[in-house]
Amino acid sequence: MKDWWKSSVVYQIYPRSFRDSNGDGLGDIPGIIEKLDYLKELGIDVIWLSPVFDSPQDDNGYDIRDYKKIYDQFGTNEDMYKFIDEAHKRGIRIVMDLVVNHTSDEHQWFVESRKDKDNPYRDYYIWRDGKEDGSEPNNWGSYFSGSAWQYDEETKQYFLHYFSKRQPDLNWENEQLRQEVWDLMTFWMDKGVDGWRLDVISSISKYQNYLDYEPIPDQKYIIGKYHTNGPRLHEFLQDMNREVLAKYDCMTVGEAPGSSPQEALLFTDPERKELNMIFTFEHMDLDTQQGTPNGKWALRDLNLVELKANLAKWQTELEDGGWNSLYWNNHDQPRIVSRWGNDGEYRELSAKMLGTVLHFMKGTPYIYQGEEIGMVNCAYELSEYDDIEIRNAYKELVQENHTLTHEEFMKAIHYKGRDNARTPMQWDASEHGGFTTGTPWLKVNPRYADINVKQALADSNSIFYYYQAMIKLRKQMPIIVHGKFELILADHPEIFAYTRSYEGKKLLVVANFYGNTAQFPLPAQLEACGWSKLMSNYADSAEQPKGLVLRPYEAVVYTC
Ligand code: NOJ
Repeated sequence: MKDWWKSSVVYQIYPRSFRDSNGDGLGDIPGIIEKLDYLKELGIDVIWLSPVFDSPQDDNGYDIRDYKKIYDQFGTNEDMYKFIDEAHKRGIRIVMDLVVNHTSDEHQWFVESRKDKDNPYRDYYIWRDGKEDGSEPNNWGSYFSGSAWQYDEETKQYFLHYFSKRQPDLNWENEQLRQEVWDLMTFWMDKGVDGWRLDVISSISKYQNYLDYEPIPDQKYIIGKYHTNGPRLHEFLQDMNREVLAKYDCMTVGEAPGSSPQEALLFTDPERKELNMIFTFEHMDLDTQQGTPNGKWALRDLNLVELKANLAKWQTELEDGGWNSLYWNNHDQPRIVSRWGNDGEYRELSAKMLGTVLHFMKGTPYIYQGEEIGMVNCAYELSEYDDIEIRNAYKELVQENHTLTHEEFMKAIHYKGRDNARTPMQWDASEHGGFTTGTPWLKVNPRYADINVKQALADSNSIFYYYQAMIKLRKQMPIIVHGKFELILADHPEIFAYTRSYEGKKLLVVANFYGNTAQFPLPAQLEACGWSKLMSNYADSAEQPKGLVLRPYEAVVYTC
């Protein structure tokens, strides 16, 4: 089927936390194979597998040492080939994670590159002299705290790293390096891989003059417009498309921080032959105060009117020519039910409400492992976290700069830290949630006894079956895939509502985003339709949308 990715639902697996088959405390590929029937039952079409390549795991596999080899604690290449095969047998496609903005510092290319200035691999990375006073070449910051430059004694130059100093950035200006990337992609696609999620792809082309950012008070290092959407980005992606992607029936989704809908169109307009869709970050940043020295750890309350306006902007601006990805969760984001839902009394209702709002918009929905059973954030002690982002930020903000107190930092981590998403998958109520028989690499969320797959499968009213029903409807109703989106009641402070229209039919989605009751005034232009209820998260939701009073987190979908 042409453009099968438009009607697909993608499920993301974070391998180290999904299922450990051999008791070493770390998830693995044989563990994923064990659970394929579970995913089949959920009804998803595609698995996006976070990196499984050989890696020293400084950033949990987003630091790759060998692109053609599977990390031995996750299994062997044969396990991976078997996984592709077993998934295909069940009609599930596999998308791998392409991490080519940077490698690990243990990648052979970098080991060579840092040896001397004349090494053939020197130019695979970005090396610069320091300023006259010996300081970094410019004031660019790393996403993982501090400067984006690391001094290397060996050749007395700095190399660039947008992430940890063990993740040196690749130099895409080098043609041979680009060939290596096409080659590794081809290697995996020839093994049957059905596409790629492209890690921080908006950063691969660097502004070659390496100018300093305008100084900002209290910020020594800055992250801004030079970090993304560089001058040759789209040229490189068009090359990638021509050299590799166009030769396969595949799907692509680019992670594109710093991109607006206008930029998204450059990536996703089919005429331009680049990618199928991107991940926007705009909605994920709405509960952060922008431009403070505390970065993403400076929290603010979500404003629903802003969230609706933002998502509606993406829906509308990509209507002609582009395509949206739809997500609330991934391995870098906290659990949505704790973030913008209610993980106490209304956990199940609010998880279903959030699912409804997302899955009925136009685009390809992504489910992150555990979302389908309503997994929640964890509130651990600092020492119990593993994430390099958390560890570096604590050192910088609490211990060195004192811009956050320990308590403020912990509050921010409990709300937004990446490890909220990375705690092991909760399969049942046995020790460690049935994830491992050994000691898990990261503590299992203490709520595993109540929130787990076994329990969800035994309860016909569970979040799991609600997600299953939404996925089924997408297969049956082309309007869910193709319908034109229109936001209604844009200024309503509590209700998220929109319509979809396709071939004379309409869908109406109404959702109460909060724990109080809320009135839904049906807009006059929608009154004439003969509505009927399609699905809802309360068994007895009103049959008609007129004069509706929505209970806490109630979400209803009507058709006409
Ligand atoms: C984005 C990935 O999603 C994140 O987990 C990783 O740390 C950075 N890119 C660096 O690869």
